Amino acid sequence: MVLCKNVFKEFNNGTTFIAVNNVSFHVKAGEFVAIMGKSGSGKSTLLNLIGLIDKPTSGSIFIDGIASSDMNESQLAGIRLEKIGYVFQSFYLDHNYSVYKNVEIPLLIANTPSHKCRERVEICLEQVGMLDKLHSKAGTLSGGEKQRVCIARALANNPSLLLADEPCGSLDSENTEVIMEIFQSLNQKGITIIMVTHDIEEGKKANRIITMKDGKI
Ligand SMILES: Nc1ncnc2c1ncn2[C@@H]1O[C@H](COP(=O)(O)OP(=O)(O)OP(=O)(O)O)[C@@H](O)[C@H]1O
Ligand SMILES: [Mg+2]
Repeated sequence: MVLCKNVFKEFNNGTTFIAVNNVSFHVKAGEFVAIMGKSGSGKSTLLNLIGLIDKPTSGSIFIDGIASSDMNESQLAGIRLEKIGYVFQSFYLDHNYSVYKNVEIPLLIANTPSHKCRERVEICLEQVGMLDKLHSKAGTLSGGEKQRVCIARALANNPSLLLADEPCGSLDSENTEVIMEIFQSLNQKGITIIMVTHDIEEGKKANRIITMKDGKI
């Protein structure tokens, strides 16, 4: 599903900083992998490379056998839209939009016919237990509810890969448990998950933990 081969990511702000340093690993379809490590160890940088949000300085990333370096911008956008769902710590919901509208956005970008949008939004909200809040304004939801809507939005285009960067970082333990149960149930349905976390209890919910230190795994 995901193969990283000798991946480097350097940032250059006057001096060169190696945030991801010669990382190679393979995540098979159906796995639930946690990426752990101290703040600044390169976890988010690596996840952004896997999610095709950012490009490696060198090395290769393959998604379903296709090298990201062989794709042009529109092919990268297509893979991001259709194959990858992304969940962030800070939600990035549009607070003035309803829950429905927020989850519908990726479907509209994918040119989904409107009758199908409705059906798909409902299926995704059902999976995270948020169907009853369909018409609520996103800004009125609790943190845990917001993150559940974000997961529904990430699922909208039926991705095979779900990436999550500290999805429970802003949540209390009760909501964290709910989110982790959702991830486990999605994984059991076949979605491959790569989750960044600094919390060992969350990490233990995954099938495998990859630890990062100073950009290396
Ligand atoms: N755009 C950038 N320009 C310069 N340096 C960057 C940039 N993005 C990240 N870095 C640096 O790369 C290193 C890794 O950052 P990253 O955000 O991947 O860490 P992280 O492991 O996700 O940390 P945290 O747990 O705090 O989120 C940090 O030292 C950071 O300052
Ligand atoms: Mg981070």
